[in-house]
Amino acid sequence: MSKGDVSPIRSVPPSIPRPDYVGKRRASQWRGGDVHSAETIARIRATSRLAAQALAEVGRHVTPGVTTDELDRIGHEFLVDHGAYPSTLGYPGSAGRPPFPKSLCTSLNEVICHGIPDSTVIQPGDIVKVDITAYKDGVHGDNCGSFIAGEGSPKARDLVEATREALARGIAAVKPGREVNVIGRVIEAYATRNGYESVRNYTGHGVGPAFHSGLVIPHYDSAPMHSDVIKPGMVFTVEPMLVAGSELNYEWDDGWTVSTDDGSWCAQFEHTLVVTDDGAEVLTLP
Ligand code: MF3
Ligand code: CO
Ligand code: CO
Repeated sequence: MSKGDVSPIRSVPPSIPRPDYVGKRRASQWRGGDVHSAETIARIRATSRLAAQALAEVGRHVTPGVTTDELDRIGHEFLVDHGAYPSTLGYPGSAGRPPFPKSLCTSLNEVICHGIPDSTVIQPGDIVKVDITAYKDGVHGDNCGSFIAGEGSPKARDLVEATREALARGIAAVKPGREVNVIGRVIEAYATRNGYESVRNYTGHGVGPAFHSGLVIPHYDSAPMHSDVIKPGMVFTVEPMLVAGSELNYEWDDGWTVSTDDGSWCAQFEHTLVVTDDGAEVLTLP
């Protein structure tokens, strides 16, 4: 995959509230914790449902011949039409990098994540990761899916299905009282058994009133690090990226796009979830 042309910034009606980081050089550090009230969780549930509906709508349009910019237009219009702000639009970059210029991320094949929608035309067999986050009623809901354009090779299909299952197993490991590092342990073990590597330097995160709360959810066995104890009412994402070759990666000079070093292909799925008394409730369901 290589860089295409990025279209002009899409507009959001002034009536739709923006997250506080829009127009700032960096997002402020969230200090409100990751356990939320029933009232806040209800808002995150509604926004997450919208994000999931947006993802499904964009996913329906993943087909050979479509540009990634067209997927951005579809996701942008869906969210705006439902009164939501596309959280990635204007999200500040780290240290000296420009803000993210689009309303969702499109990451093809060897691109792991944070791909910028542009004039790139989707080809038959491409793995297209779409990551879309909604901001509405003061909270974010974040999700990602992998779609294959057309039929796809058996290898691509296996990678996508293994990643879907890795996410499901990671979520099934969420129980109050356990440390968050149990999630990545399960995901990485499943990846390894299937001949894949799990990306280490991009992680899940606390989400809600803040897009990225500061809580980190690794997708590898990080124990004894990341020992935060899982508690009812916690809201975070799990978003494993599995790679067919080496998970080592680098960032393009656009300051966002992350690609595997060896060109091997990647799949990703992401859900936002809330911890219940005995497990997790997935919030990003349509
Ligand atoms: N949605 C991504 C995540 O899962 C974050 C994208 S930030 C962007 O955390 F700026 F790259 F869009
Ligand atoms: Co996320
Ligand atoms: Co995301």
